[in-house]
Amino acid sequence: MSEKISRVGVIGAGQMGAGIAEVCARAHADVLVYETTRELAAAGRSRILRSLDRGVSSGKLTEREREQASARLRFTTDLGDFADRQMVCEAVIEDESIKTEIFEQLDKVVTDPNAVLASNTSSIPIMKLGMATANADRVIGMHFFNPVPVLPLVELVTTLMTSPEVTTRAEQFARDILGKEVVRSADRSGFVVNALLVPYLLSAIRMVESGFATVEDIDKAMVLGCAHPMGPLKLSDLVGLDTVKAIADKMYEEFKEPLYAPPPVLLRMVEAGRLGKKSGHGFYKYESAKAGVKN
Ligand code: 3HC
Repeated sequence: MSEKISRVGVIGAGQMGAGIAEVCARAHADVLVYETTRELAAAGRSRILRSLDRGVSSGKLTEREREQASARLRFTTDLGDFADRQMVCEAVIEDESIKTEIFEQLDKVVTDPNAVLASNTSSIPIMKLGMATANADRVIGMHFFNPVPVLPLVELVTTLMTSPEVTTRAEQFARDILGKEVVRSADRSGFVVNALLVPYLLSAIRMVESGFATVEDIDKAMVLGCAHPMGPLKLSDLVGLDTVKAIADKMYEEFKEPLYAPPPVLLRMVEAGRLGKKSGHGFYKYESAKAGVKN
């Protein structure tokens, strides 16, 4: 019987990693966050503190809870510090070679044989990450949604090799400790949500590209006509256009479905550094561009 998870590691403190670290710290876990440089670690800490402040100003957190959550967060630039972690969630950019290298290293460092080595990848088959390790039974997909403190879902993705113990541990952590709802998905690029969402986002981008309708009207149509909280172009900006492209590339690689291929306008925007909200410019312009351009 494995102990209850209380020591968590998060790899990457960008948009998703910071959100995951925040919800873990708010759920009373001791959280160690890895970034490649001290500057990126500092930017990650500020991102989390801003979000905790937002929690206080919207009445969801008391000032004491914010201080306690903040005290549970530590940062490092050394993966070697993750030896005692019971669960690690990787949330770096959507790049297979970077992720496989991290899994290879993590597997050597984390000592608990039942530790959960999870990836927040949106589209890379988890088996590929598992096979970078010598213990693929510890590797699982735990896919969170942006903004992580707000959206209640985690997709749990097991591979042919994930052990039942690790699956149960990951599911209990997401559900009972973080208070998230869990759905299961087969290990197919895009899992459930992105397999449905990304073709929709790409269709909206193709509509803009062909002059079918304006950015504003497409978004307005889906917000007012279908009661979506935001339209597909604003949502693409929120997810990050580089991330939308990376997911589309992976889904296309897996299924060879032409509708999954990123349209040229998306490629050009990413090449131009127009990555959406995080870079200050995507389909919309944003006044307060956040520091850094990591996912
Ligand atoms: N951190 C913490 N809380 C936040 C937050 C953040 N980053 N962003 C918003 N919130 C909270 C606000 O405090 C507010 O709380 P309240 O209602 O208690 O006051 C609530 O969320 C609503 O926020 P706002 O009033 O500022 O703004 P909106 O009502 O416009 O909601 C939104 C913003 C939550 C982003 C909403 O538009 C939304 O849910 N959009 C859809 C997002 C979505 O689809 N995400 C999934 C993307 S796909 C993905 O992540 C997978 C990946 O693999 C690509």
